[in-house]
Amino acid sequence: MESKLKKIYKEAEERIKQVTNKEELKEVQVEFLGRKKGEITQLLRSMTALPSQERPLIGKLINEIKRKIQKLLEVKKKEISEKKIEKEYIDVTFPGKKPKIGKLHPLTYTVEEIKRIFISMGFQVVRGPEMETEYYNFEALNMPSYHPARNEYDSFYLDNGYLLRSHTSPVQIRVMEKESPPIRIIVPGRVYRRDAIDASHFPMFHQVEGLAVDEKVTFSDLKGVLTSFAHQMFGKDIPVRFRPSFFPFTEPSADMDIQCVICKGKGCKTCGGKGWLEVLGAGMVDPEVFKKVGYNSQKYQGFAFGMGVERICMLKYGIDDIRLFFQNDLRFLKQF
Ligand code: PHE
Repeated sequence: MESKLKKIYKEAEERIKQVTNKEELKEVQVEFLGRKKGEITQLLRSMTALPSQERPLIGKLINEIKRKIQKLLEVKKKEISEKKIEKEYIDVTFPGKKPKIGKLHPLTYTVEEIKRIFISMGFQVVRGPEMETEYYNFEALNMPSYHPARNEYDSFYLDNGYLLRSHTSPVQIRVMEKESPPIRIIVPGRVYRRDAIDASHFPMFHQVEGLAVDEKVTFSDLKGVLTSFAHQMFGKDIPVRFRPSFFPFTEPSADMDIQCVICKGKGCKTCGGKGWLEVLGAGMVDPEVFKKVGYNSQKYQGFAFGMGVERICMLKYGIDDIRLFFQNDLRFLKQF
């Protein structure tokens, strides 16, 4: 009997040693001390077969072993729960992991900056549809179907007879049809042209249109507002110049240049040796356009301008390829 008990104890000891979790511990406990089939329990039960004088001694022995096994189980239980705590232990004094925070796309950021500047000069932000009619995109802007300038805006035509607007100027017409002067608006938005993709062309890009109409608006107002814009956008000392230009919907028309930000006017690859970079197109609203929206051009004058957001952003940050804006490459986007 004694050797049998020893064997059981050895076995229990061995089994408990190998236990690694609560579930296994429970199994071993049932196996040895279980109320129905536990080995020790069975031994205690079999004692009834022993002669009565042997019972106290054997009983004592069995109970001793039972207690020892219980002790082992308890120690193991403690060990397991301590290990769990160790695993889940958190050092609250440790510096935390910073969550990664997203940023604005450089184009969004640039539009926001343009908006801020013009809002501070009293302009309101309005928007218009990207799907336009030929009337708003061309005709009302003094470009009848035979007008050669239409070729410069090689547009995407849709099956439903509409087209994707090739500039934000149609919104000038939409606003003037609805409102009467004074008007001071800017119109940020996407525009589309059938351009082959290269470092400076993309079939979709962004423009900000501007329109100011009132009594006694002059070309000086145009120059003043746009020079102030250039100074706020590119630095207060940047030289600015206006060159004669042509747009069917403005007369006279001008392009505004800033001094080349790369070579400071000396002439380099970026400015094509000219020392100047074109920033936007502008002009006084053509009386033909006023006629289309029913404004009295004897009473009202206006200036309008349009700029490419990608271009402004590229000049400001020295970006040399428009495609970078649309590739979602984090190495590029992270820099802003
Ligand atoms: N719509 C012209 C363009 O896309 C820019 C422009 C707007 C010029 C308003 C003059 C006045 O090229």
